[in-house]
Amino acid sequence: MAISKTLADELEKRRAVALEGGGVKKAEDRHAKGRMTARDRLASLFSEGTFQEFGLHAQHKSRHFGMEKKSIPTDGVITGTGFVDGRPVAAFSQDFTVVGGSLGEIHSKKICHTLDYAGKAGIPIIGFNDSGGARIQEGVGSLAAYGQVFYRNVQLSGVVPQISVIAGPCAGGAAYSPALTDFIIMTRENAQMFICGPEVIRAVTGQVTTMDEIGSAQAHASVSGNIHFIAEDDAHAVAIAHRLLSFLPSNNMMDPPHRVEPDLSVVDDPRLDDLVPEDPKIPFDSREVIKLLADDGDFMEVMELFAQNIVIGFGRIGGIVVGFVANQPTVKAGTLDIDASDKAARFVRFCNVFNIPIVTLVDVPGFLPGVNEERRGIIRHGAKMLFAYASATVPKITVIMRKAYGGAYLAMCSEDMGADRVIAWPTAEIAVMGADGAVNILYRKELAEADDKAAKAKELADEYRGQFATPYLAAGELFVHDIIQPRQTRSAIALTLRGLMSKRETRPPKKHGNIPL
Ligand code: HXC
Repeated sequence: MAISKTLADELEKRRAVALEGGGVKKAEDRHAKGRMTARDRLASLFSEGTFQEFGLHAQHKSRHFGMEKKSIPTDGVITGTGFVDGRPVAAFSQDFTVVGGSLGEIHSKKICHTLDYAGKAGIPIIGFNDSGGARIQEGVGSLAAYGQVFYRNVQLSGVVPQISVIAGPCAGGAAYSPALTDFIIMTRENAQMFICGPEVIRAVTGQVTTMDEIGSAQAHASVSGNIHFIAEDDAHAVAIAHRLLSFLPSNNMMDPPHRVEPDLSVVDDPRLDDLVPEDPKIPFDSREVIKLLADDGDFMEVMELFAQNIVIGFGRIGGIVVGFVANQPTVKAGTLDIDASDKAARFVRFCNVFNIPIVTLVDVPGFLPGVNEERRGIIRHGAKMLFAYASATVPKITVIMRKAYGGAYLAMCSEDMGADRVIAWPTAEIAVMGADGAVNILYRKELAEADDKAAKAKELADEYRGQFATPYLAAGELFVHDIIQPRQTRSAIALTLRGLMSKRETRPPKKHGNIPL
C-alpha cells in the first residue's frame, strides 16, 4: 500500500518550513551582506549530496517564557554528517536567523548528539558558531545545556579532531566550547568572541575599549592567542577547514593521511646549503627552511600571527604527515618566551594524540630574559615544552641548525627529552650558554686585563665556540646522532620517518600527567 498523499504532503510541508529557518528575507539579507547562511556553510563544507541531517524536525519546548507561540525551526542549529574529500565528518552550524542562533535545551541536545556520534564513529567534528549565546528565555536550562556541550568537548579531546569556526557572535561562556576544541578558525569581519564585552568592561572596571581591541579575529590571532586561523570570509573558513582536515587522522586510533609512495626518493637539496648564514647573529626565516623540507613546499602554518618567535604547522616529508616546530630567528632572535612556549607545547600535544610525527628545527639562543617573563612565570610556561616533548611518544626528529643553548636546547627536544634522532649541521653550536655570556663568566680576569677588550672578547668567544660548543663535541658523546650537510636534511628526515612508522613506545598507566598549566 502506497503512502497516502496527505501524509506525503505533510512531510514535505514540514520539511519546507524547517529548511527555511528564519525565513527567506533573513537569508537574503545575509547574502546581500556577503555572508553565508548556516545551511550554506554546511553545503560548502560537504561534498554535494553527502549531507545527512539529524534533527530537522526538532522543536523547542513551548513551556518557556514568551516562547509559547514562537516558531523555532530546527531549534536554531543544523546538525548532521557528510563527506569531505571522501572522508566522513560530523558538523553543526548555528542558524542566527532563528532566535539569534541562541542555545537552548533542544539546540544543545542536537549538538551533543552530533558530538556523541562523532565520538562513536571516530570522525572529526566541525562546529560553525554564530549565536547570541545562552537562550535567555530558557534560563538555567540553557546554561546546563552549554555544560553538556563543554563536557562532551572535553571527553572527545584527543579522541577525534575538533575544529571550531567562529562566523558570528560568540559571547560569554559560549566562547568556552570553541576554546575546548583543537583549532579555531575565525572570520575577519562579522565575528566576535569575548567573555565580557566593552560595555561590561566599562561598567565594572571603568576601562574604555572596543570590540576590535578585545574580540576581533585580529586581536585573537595576534594578541590573545585564542584562535589559530583568520579567514577572510565564510568560504575561506571552509577552505581552511578542508586543508586542515587533509593533514589530520579521523581519530586517535588512526594514522594521519600519509601519502607514502612505495619507493622513497632520497635526493639532496643544495638550496638548503645556502639558506642559513654561518654567523649565528645573522637571522634567517625558518619558514624558508620548512618550505624546502616539506613535500612540494606545502606548509600549513598554524597561529601565524601569535608568538612569531616560534613557527608551528603541518606538512609532509616523503609523503608522511609531520608537525613542524621551528625557532624563528627573525623575531626576538628566536628566543623562547611565555607565549612561544604555550604555542609550541600545545601543538606538540596535539600532534602526539593524533599520531603525527614531530620535526623540530632548532636555532635558539635561550629563554627570553626579562623581569616580565620571570614574574609572569616563564618557568611554569617553559616547563610545558619540556613536559609536552617528554610525554610525546610519536616519532620525534630534531635538527640542530645553529644555536642550541641552555634550557632551550632541552626544551627544543634534545636527545634526553626523547628525540629518536638528533641531526646537527656543521653550523650547530650546542652549549650551556652563548659565547658572549660564557666568556664574561669564564674569562673575566683576562678581559679586564686586556688592552683591546673587544678584540680579546672576540678571540675568547671563538676559542669558546671551538672548545665547548661544536656539534662534534655533542656528537662525540652521542647527544647528536649524526652531523650532516644541510643539503642532506630532507632525505635524512624522510628516511628516518619511514623507519619510524612502526614506532611503539609505552608509558606507565596513569590517569594523566600533571602538566604545569
Ligand atoms: C534569546 C536571542 C539571544 C539570546 C539574540 N536573540 N540573542 N534570543 N536569547 N541569548 C534574538 C534577539 O532577540 C533577536 O530576536 C534575534 O535573536 C537577533 O538578535 P539581534 O539582537 O536583533 O541581532 P544583532 O543586532 O545582530 O545582535 C546580536 C547580538 C545580540 C550582539 C548577539 O543579540 C546580543 O547581544 N544578544 C545577547 C548576547 C548575550 O549576552 N548572550 C548571553 C551570553 S552569556 P528577534 O525575534 O527580534 O529577531 C552566555 C552564557 C553561556 O551565553 C554560559 C555557558 C556556561
